[in-house]
Amino acid sequence: MKILGIESSCDETAAAVVEDGCKLLSNEVVSQIDIHKEFGGVVPEVAARSHLEVITAVIQRALDQAGTDWSDIDAVAVTQGPGLSGSLLIGSIAGRVLALTKDKPLYGIHHVTAHVYANFITDQSDGSELQLPTRLPEFPILALIVSGGHSQLVLFKDHDDYELLGQTLDDAVGEAFDKVAKIIGLPYPGGPSISKLAPEGDDTTIELPISRLDNPYDFSFSGLKTATLRAAQAGVGGDYQTPSFEIPNRLTDEQRADFAASFQKTAVQTLVDATVKATNEFAPKSVVIAGGVAANRLLRTELQSALPKFNIEYAPPNLCTDNAAMIATLAYFQTQRAEPQSPFGFDIFPSWAM
Ligand code: KG4
Ligand code: ZN
Repeated sequence: MKILGIESSCDETAAAVVEDGCKLLSNEVVSQIDIHKEFGGVVPEVAARSHLEVITAVIQRALDQAGTDWSDIDAVAVTQGPGLSGSLLIGSIAGRVLALTKDKPLYGIHHVTAHVYANFITDQSDGSELQLPTRLPEFPILALIVSGGHSQLVLFKDHDDYELLGQTLDDAVGEAFDKVAKIIGLPYPGGPSISKLAPEGDDTTIELPISRLDNPYDFSFSGLKTATLRAAQAGVGGDYQTPSFEIPNRLTDEQRADFAASFQKTAVQTLVDATVKATNEFAPKSVVIAGGVAANRLLRTELQSALPKFNIEYAPPNLCTDNAAMIATLAYFQTQRAEPQSPFGFDIFPSWAM
């Protein structure tokens, strides 16, 4: 079964064709990062307009790259939420119209759950020679979902049966990467910038706190962000009133790298501690990480060394950040369990909880 996936919830316009949930036939992504970079973050209105400009071409490219035409496509899947309303509307309108005019079943997909399903893509013929996991995750699956909008630990007992063990009480970890990068003067998006610079720094020079919460599976990253800001203010000889926009120019390159390394180490340690604790308590068969921050190399190596009994297989970085292959993959498993949705009544859910 071949499914066309469409994703436009934030600042990536993406379309992909996936066969039987695990074989990647094409994976097209147009990123708006360069457009939003000058604002230091995603501007919703600009994002929606940019999706509108490219979405038709991106969908056509995904079909061409997969060597398919509409007669081969069995269903259309589109991100229905959560995300930015204007951005979600563009993808959902495209999905509705295509489902209707091409007479295909339509599936509305939860973006955050879909991130986990990137780990089910184990085969490819899209020509990109990605390093994919060699086997499917096995239930029960413990999933650490870490993106720009979410930080959650979820136990999947089966495809439709999951338990939210914990989540962030304030900022998502990707958001903390982005904000700290801005404080120390690194470009958006902050995750890749920080992880690139961190190896040049000394991660022991700046001591940052790991928050401890009542539920050991909940997270809080706003304290870490503020602690990094205070340390950066002190590092440039200022106090808590020193405006953050003055910090980048007053930090030395060595200090900047030390901040990147110290922040990354603390954020990763927080995630690894909670995941290891949940693994010990819930005894999953597989542990997976998902979402943009799952592309982080330190997180991958630290998690594997903290869980030596697991042979953790990671999705390639471009399937961790936003993409439409994960949308088509989750849709495949939904086709076996749920009825398609009507393209006429198809709505978006910008704040859709898991
Ligand atoms: O999943 P995603 O592409 O979009 C959302 O659904 O939010 O995640 C984007 C987030 C951004 O905050 C970005 O800074 C972060 O993922 N990110 C990383 C890395 N690559 C992307 N964070 C840490 N290390 C990375 N290598
Ligand atoms: Zn995402």
